[in-house]
Amino acid sequence: MRTPVIAPSILSSDFARLRDEVDEVIRAGCDWIHIDVMDGHFVPNLTLGPPIVKALRRHVQATFDVHLMVESPEHWIPAFVDAGADILTVHYEATPHVHRALQMIRESGKRAGLALNPGTSPDGLSYLLADVDLVLVMTVNPGFGGQSLVPSTLAKVAEVRRMLDEAGRQDVHVEVDGGIHAGTIRQARDAGADVFVAGSAVFDEPDRALAIESLRAALRE
Ligand code: DX5
Ligand code: ZN
Repeated sequence: MRTPVIAPSILSSDFARLRDEVDEVIRAGCDWIHIDVMDGHFVPNLTLGPPIVKALRRHVQATFDVHLMVESPEHWIPAFVDAGADILTVHYEATPHVHRALQMIRESGKRAGLALNPGTSPDGLSYLLADVDLVLVMTVNPGFGGQSLVPSTLAKVAEVRRMLDEAGRQDVHVEVDGGIHAGTIRQARDAGADVFVAGSAVFDEPDRALAIESLRAALRE
């Protein structure tokens, strides 16, 4: 069994206290910080850009897992690399040049992730199996925190894990994002995920250590 990675999404944090919020979830025992970048085009919401990532990077050592929900992500990769991202995930649907985008990330010395929307087949992954360090199976439609997990995405998690295993890519992370809480995390794990993004399940709780511990407890059950 892979060691589970808990990655709180700062989308649900109090942006007016962003550094404190990040420090708090790190003290509370999370593994990575998940940073949702939205451009108002690929998704109907607008969040943050490289300057915020750079500002946080000066104070925070933890792994920055940057989820690019932007059109033509290849235009933004250099800026997020400079800002201090550790993992950069691009959407399969966001560019006709997804292979090039993954290559750019790896050539910058960073880990490359490929994200699939709920309506996207995992078939395209078969041509990218050697080019990814992580596959992000969206368990909601991207754009907002606090939505309910789309059940059909769990079968896709299993399918993605099977494709990776058959290709000898057991080292690749399978990440789930959206609607993950103590009541759903175990199903995602059983389907084959090992990285769990949780926004509202962590940041909407006053006690973040308890919130993260209840996710870990649900995985142990
Ligand atoms: C959705 C984002 C998620 C979001 C998850 O577009 O990619 O990372 O913050 O939020 P919850 O965990 O509340 O569903
Ligand atoms: Zn995300």
